[in-house]
Amino acid sequence: MILTDKNCDRSLIIQSVAKVEAACFSDPWTPRALDDLLCASGSVFVCSADNDGNITGYVCGQIAADECELYRIAVSDKYRGKGYAKELMEYFIEECRRNNVRGIFLEVRSSNVPARTLYEKYGFQNIATRKNYYRNPTEDAIIYKYEA
Ligand SMILES: CC(C)(COP(=O)(O)OP(=O)(O)OC[C@H]1O[C@@H](n2cnc3c(N)ncnc32)[C@H](O)[C@@H]1OP(=O)(O)O)[C@@H](O)C(=O)NCCC(=O)NCCS
Repeated sequence: MILTDKNCDRSLIIQSVAKVEAACFSDPWTPRALDDLLCASGSVFVCSADNDGNITGYVCGQIAADECELYRIAVSDKYRGKGYAKELMEYFIEECRRNNVRGIFLEVRSSNVPARTLYEKYGFQNIATRKNYYRNPTEDAIIYKYEA
């Protein structure tokens, strides 16, 4: 099930996603930063949920003209391997198409095999490497592009 701020309370989305962020990333976004993005122009911000309505993960990005940057996709540890990221990615790509996006860009840590496998499964192409781009720990970023 996909939840957005159209069919789910905004503060519940922010609280739940902040918990996913804190559990998944060394540089988690604050509730304030998440709220700003949710309200920003061109924002694509959706959550996945289980049958009981518990938020399991989320994806967010921002459209500008005919391009979109996918900022984050994450699923809580206990819900991984159940297809939630696929549901989120399919919704995200479809939403980009509905908005006439032609290219979706993202960057990811080079060692992040689950995420890179997910992106490549959906046809994202590795187009560049940024050496030592990430900190904590230091690591290359791989840039991917999807032709929508
Ligand atoms: C990447 C992530 C979102 C995948 O979520 P998920 O709900 O477990 O993924 P799904 O069950 O929908 O699997 C979708 C596809 O992702 C890939 N995948 C997921 N987990 C994987 C793993 N451990 N190893 C390799 N590929 C994996 C596979 O291609 C899988 O498709 P398949 O099941 O048909 O083989 C999740 O591991 C996560 O939240 N990681 C931490 C946050 C993160 O690093 N996000 C990316 C950077 S923003």
